[in-house]
Parts: sequence; structure tokens; C-alpha cells
Amino acid sequence: MNDVADSYFAQEQHVPREERLEQVLLRCVARLREQMPIHGLRNPKIGTTGNRWIYCDGPDWVMSFLSGQYWLAYQLTGDVAFRNAVQARRPDFRKILEHYRYRDHDLGFQFSLHSVADWQLTGDREAREMGLKAAFALLNRFRPEGNYIQAWSPTGPHDRAKAAFANGRIIADTMQNLGLLYWATRETGIGEYEEVAEAHAATSASTLVRADDTSFHTYLFDPSTGEPLRGETHQGFADQSCWARGQAWLMHGFTQCYVNGGNRAHLDVARRLCAKAEAMIGDAIVPVWDFNLPDSSEPYIDSSAAAVMASGLLLLSRQDIDPQEAQRWRALAIRLLNGLVEQCDLTRDPQAQGLLAHGAAHVPAGRCDAMLPYGDYYFMEALMRAQGHERFFW
Ligand code: GLY
Repeated sequence: MNDVADSYFAQEQHVPREERLEQVLLRCVARLREQMPIHGLRNPKIGTTGNRWIYCDGPDWVMSFLSGQYWLAYQLTGDVAFRNAVQARRPDFRKILEHYRYRDHDLGFQFSLHSVADWQLTGDREAREMGLKAAFALLNRFRPEGNYIQAWSPTGPHDRAKAAFANGRIIADTMQNLGLLYWATRETGIGEYEEVAEAHAATSASTLVRADDTSFHTYLFDPSTGEPLRGETHQGFADQSCWARGQAWLMHGFTQCYVNGGNRAHLDVARRLCAKAEAMIGDAIVPVWDFNLPDSSEPYIDSSAAAVMASGLLLLSRQDIDPQEAQRWRALAIRLLNGLVEQCDLTRDPQAQGLLAHGAAHVPAGRCDAMLPYGDYYFMEALMRAQGHERFFW
């Protein structure tokens, strides 16, 4: 922490903790406003030295997270500058709809936060049409042989190894993309979108979630028969370990599926995943990036996993469960949020461009200890849920 941050933190010590979270959210909005002219039409990808952003170079799964933050700030302030900044980004999102090689399961992250949010908050019909086209493209990634949505795509028609790697694979992250399908059913009355979301969630529950309530990051199927083969990792430490952000996507994703479709089985899976996460986090205030690291491995923390977990736990605490259990999830979420404020909050650092430090994008590939735009988005979502906001776009 630098001197400015140190002195701010010292001043904040006397403020009650939940009130402090309210102040953090105000600082997030101020940071977005101040950085808007610097971003222009660029979308942050990952942080670099000095907490500056490296930006996306063309379509990218992370490209909607700044738009998502702008829509949250628009809800809080009504400032049309945030709305205009998202709508000016439409050509980049159209590019994804117009070129198949840019499309994968991340259509949910991309279009729920960019276009569905726009339609819901402004009633703009072009945004609705973009959201529905994205939902249709996501629907068409469904593989009925194995009842799952294919996550990734092979890079080229002759790349056999990549095809074998991608065609039969589901990943935990997709659970957070299903909101786009439930929305499309609500919007059009066509049940198929929700049916596919339900089928994928059921397959994820029976394959990605292990018997001990930890999770695989990915699961491989035989793409021609749909036979489930084995769990593997992509961004975690090992195939049999539990990657923290994967567990977080599942916690938030299964809860969100229950909210969208009302299937109690998803609620029960979410509760099991959350209870396991609580045990694995232990006394830490920000979780380590993988819960099964050997002592010889650098224990980087992952602020983005904490932010996604906090938001999912707060959503879970609002469902029709026993009040004591609801209090347990809320308390854990607030503990994680306070942990983020204590260890990762950059809104006190006037030199930083983003909101949270210490995100772990892909540790085995060397991308860690950095700002991440999805960490920033879910931090704001969680701070707003902690204050009782209920309007989000999944
Ligand atoms: N969805 C990719 C990640 O969580 O890194």
C-alpha cells in the first residue's frame, strides 16, 4: 500500500464496516467517471505495472465488464454519460455477432452486460435485438448427445488437436453465461432457451461438481457419443485440485439458475458449493487462487474469485431458505468484501486505473497479481447487493 492509501485507511478505521462498504461503492463510481475519458472506446483486459490497464485487442470474453460497471453506475447515478459510453461500444459487439470465429460460450458475459442491460434500463430495441441474436448463437452451441453447451471452439478447420481439445468440453464458467438463455425465454416466450440452460446446468451438476462439493474447472465428453470422460483443469493448479474462480462461477451460476428457473435442485447444489467454499477459505480474508496448492507453490490470492463468491453468496442469502442459513451466507459475503477492502481496494490509490488489485487471471500461464475487469465488475455487483440492490442483468 502506498502512503496515500495508508493514510486513507487509517482515517477509515473508525467507520462501521457496512457503512465503509457504502463509501467504497461511491469511490468505485468516482473512479469510473474519472477514467472514462482515458478509456475512450477501449475495454480493459488485464492490469499491468503501476495498476494501469492493458486493453482488449478485438473481441474478447472480458470486453463487456466495463460496460457492466457503467450500467451499474448508471443505475446508481442516472448519469447519461455512462449510458452513452456503453452504447458507443455497439460496433465492437456487433462484430461478435457477425463473425462466427469470435463466438463461444462467453456470449452470456458479453451480451448480458452490454446489450440486455441496455434494453432493460433504457428500452432500446436495437440492444434487445443484439441480445436475442447472441442468445440464439449460444443456444446453437448445445450438444444434445451429451446435454451440454460446448464452451470453446477449435481455432481452424484443420486443427485436429484443438478440435479434440475443444469440441467435447464444458467449463465451470459457462454457468454464469446461462442467464442470457433464461432472459431470451422470458423475452420471446420460446421455451427452448430455458430448456437448454436447464439441461446444461443438470450436466454441470453431475460432472463438474464432485461428490465432496469441490469442482473441476472443465469436463471432457466424447463429442460424438456424448459419453462423459473425465474432469480436467485449464486454469487451475491440477486436474484434481479446486480452482477458486471455477468454484465461484458455480456458486453464483447455480444460484442464478435457481432464481431464473425455480428448480430447487440448483439451489441445493449452490448451497453445497458455498458450504464447501466456506470450509476451504477457512480464516483467509481473500481466497487463494487454487484451494489445493502444495507448500512449494506461491499462494497468490484471487480478488476476482472473492468478488464473484461474495456476489453469489449475497444472492443466495436472499432466497427462500432458513433465516439463519441466509445470515450465514451474508456474513461470509461481507467478510469477503471487507477482505477485499483491506487487501485489494485500489479506489484509495489515486494512481490506479481500476478498482481491485491482486486478481489471478491464469496463474500457470503467468498472469497473476493483476487488476482484472471481471473482478472490478463483480466487486461493484457485490457491493450493490450488500446494500439491497436487486436489479442485475443475468
Ligand atoms: N472465464 C474465464 C476465467 O474465469 O478466467
